[in-house]
Amino acid sequence: MQTAATTIDPADETAWAGIRSQFEVADGFVNLENGYFGTQAKPVLAAFEGYNRLVNAETSHFYRRLYPERHADVLRRLAEFTGTSDGELLITRNTTEAMNILIQGYPFTAGDRIVLGSHDYDSVVATFEMVAARKGLGIDRVRLPLHPDSDEEIVGLYERAITPRTRVLLLTHMIHTTGQILPVARIAAMARGHGVDVMVDAAHSFAHIDWRFPDLGADFVAVNLHKWLGAPLGVGLLHIRRERIAEIAPLYGDVTFPADDIRRLGHFGTTPAGPVLAIADALAFHHGVGSANKEARLRLLTRRWMEAAAGLDRIELLTPQAPERSCAIAAFRVTDMPAKAVVEHLFERHRIFTVERVIDGGTGVRVTPHLYTSLSDIDRLIGALGDLAA
Ligand SMILES: Cc1ncc(COP(=O)(O)O)c(C=O)c1O
Repeated sequence: MQTAATTIDPADETAWAGIRSQFEVADGFVNLENGYFGTQAKPVLAAFEGYNRLVNAETSHFYRRLYPERHADVLRRLAEFTGTSDGELLITRNTTEAMNILIQGYPFTAGDRIVLGSHDYDSVVATFEMVAARKGLGIDRVRLPLHPDSDEEIVGLYERAITPRTRVLLLTHMIHTTGQILPVARIAAMARGHGVDVMVDAAHSFAHIDWRFPDLGADFVAVNLHKWLGAPLGVGLLHIRRERIAEIAPLYGDVTFPADDIRRLGHFGTTPAGPVLAIADALAFHHGVGSANKEARLRLLTRRWMEAAAGLDRIELLTPQAPERSCAIAAFRVTDMPAKAVVEHLFERHRIFTVERVIDGGTGVRVTPHLYTSLSDIDRLIGALGDLAA
């Protein structure tokens, strides 16, 4: 997906040490669990703290007189970054909220069918299941291989799940447990041929790999801004292509806006301004590093341990290594040891923090470095894996 050339060598430890110095890195352990939410870089955190103080001092004066224009400015910056227009974007609290607005507001009728994957995010699947029970919808499920042979294989899996009653296909751009990247544009093109809508959950791919919303060819996209963009906790983004906005029934409605205005779907009441304002600072930091540089560095870090692990007998990689199929997030299992025990061993013996996840019916250990991760951090993991596999 990478669209721009890199300008920082992904293996230049001196250059990346400079970027590492822009983060407050936890002492006492190596954090390889950056998949839950992101850390704010120091300039973003400083700006965020300033916004919180400003809002606290000015209260209603800020909200009534200054916030509308500041909010609009953040939206314009997001539109530029995502390749959309600000009238097609709604800032939400997170991906869960954005997906709820879509799923609960979509004009389903009884008997319609939905296609979900066994790898999709639990709470998004649960929302579809709740709406299916309430509205009398059918669900068809796809099981994705851990190591697909080709895009065609994945497109074919989804195509075979489509029936004449299928209305919507859920696609997770980057799977949260294994980091596998789906060929969303190709699946969406196939689905369009069948008259099926695609909702993309891009919580993890946003500002992680280098892509823009129109690349996906989907009318509905939800992302997190508090994961890889490094904005404060509590911000996500919903994109609906302008022509489709009027079809979505509001969950948090605002009758003061026209039917085709996305703001009609986003009356959230009084919410904190600080995280929204700091999106601008997170975007500035991201641009300073560069999307292509970030993607290349993250991929290099993960490839380093995966290549070492691939040679170890008792270790099974659960993530494909081809560059178009994964980036920072990857997972493994030790064949004769529960993932929970591996996570404990890595932390207690080696001070490496990871997390166990349910993967393809079993469990695995998810490893997620960040921009502040050094090659020596990764080498510590490689040493620990060698120990485990011995
Ligand atoms: C693929 C995916 N979708 C949705 C979510 C939900 O994100 P949030 O809890 O921030 O709404 C996550 C969180 O990890 C995720 O990985």
